[in-house]
Amino acid sequence: MSSPTRGSEVGGELGGRVVLVTGAGQGVGRAIARLCAARGARVVVNDFHADRARDVAGEIAEDGGEALALTCDVTDFDAVQAMAQETVGRLGGLDVLVNNAGNAGPVASGLFDGPPFWETGPADWEPWLATNLFGVLNVTRACVPYMVQAGWGRVVTMISDAGRVGEPNLVVYGGAKAGAAGFSRGLAKAVARHGVTVNCVALGSMDTEAVAEVTADPALLKRVLSAYPIRRLGTPADAAHMVAFLASDAAEWITGQTYPVNGGYAVTT
Ligand SMILES: NC(=O)c1ccc[n+]([C@@H]2O[C@H](COP(=O)([O-])OP(=O)(O)OC[C@H]3O[C@@H](n4cnc5c(N)ncnc54)[C@H](O)[C@@H]3O)[C@@H](O)[C@H]2O)c1
Repeated sequence: MSSPTRGSEVGGELGGRVVLVTGAGQGVGRAIARLCAARGARVVVNDFHADRARDVAGEIAEDGGEALALTCDVTDFDAVQAMAQETVGRLGGLDVLVNNAGNAGPVASGLFDGPPFWETGPADWEPWLATNLFGVLNVTRACVPYMVQAGWGRVVTMISDAGRVGEPNLVVYGGAKAGAAGFSRGLAKAVARHGVTVNCVALGSMDTEAVAEVTADPALLKRVLSAYPIRRLGTPADAAHMVAFLASDAAEWITGQTYPVNGGYAVTT
């Protein structure tokens, strides 16, 4: 295991930790990777798109941080295992996994304008389930053994309020995200005695490339924002700060939970 600087007193320091962020080539994942690096972590920037991963690793290096770009599709279990092995081989450990790759997968399209569920079939569901649920299982399965062995670890999975409270246009996506959260709750109980915590962060609508069709249409944006008491889209930084906290020593008594970062979109107990 790498030897971290304990960060309980200040909350969120990650000195010495090795953090792997999936889908970190843009949007929320990019912000998570950059913030973790700024807080002292050595970061693996994973993405399906090699150029995106390389660019973000380059940004981190320009800022004086340490990053390694590793390309693979999180739906490919063998490739994911090779990525985890390479991480440990080159960086000496694997302390924190952030399952961030999501949405409609690496070639995302039609986030909001698909047909109703009752007019779709398994081929339509596959990309959503593959990345948002099976991808999470794959990468977690590949990384957690290193954490258990080290007696310390963090798994943080990005889900969506679509998986907590339901979204009529994102039915299968919401099901996949809810599955990832349910998986995380059980795993949290299984690994707690090994010093590993497992939590989820549930996002509302974020200002990322994935929702460009919303931000480009003022009328649609206004309609979306009318559901947000804090009347703006989330920023990648909003999400990254919650993740950095959950990844830190300061969060060692928090596990099996889902934390909304959603501008008040869904206010539930
Ligand atoms: N954007 C939103 O409004 C929003 C809302 C709620 C939840 N989320 C969740 O937050 C996370 C990040 O969202 P975002 O909007 O920043 O994403 P994004 O779609 O803008 O970027 C995701 C990145 O992940 C990569 N990726 C996708 N599938 C992959 C795979 N199978 N293997 C490897 N890389 C893959 C893509 O190439 C892309 O670079 C996702 O899990 C998403 O479901 C987003």
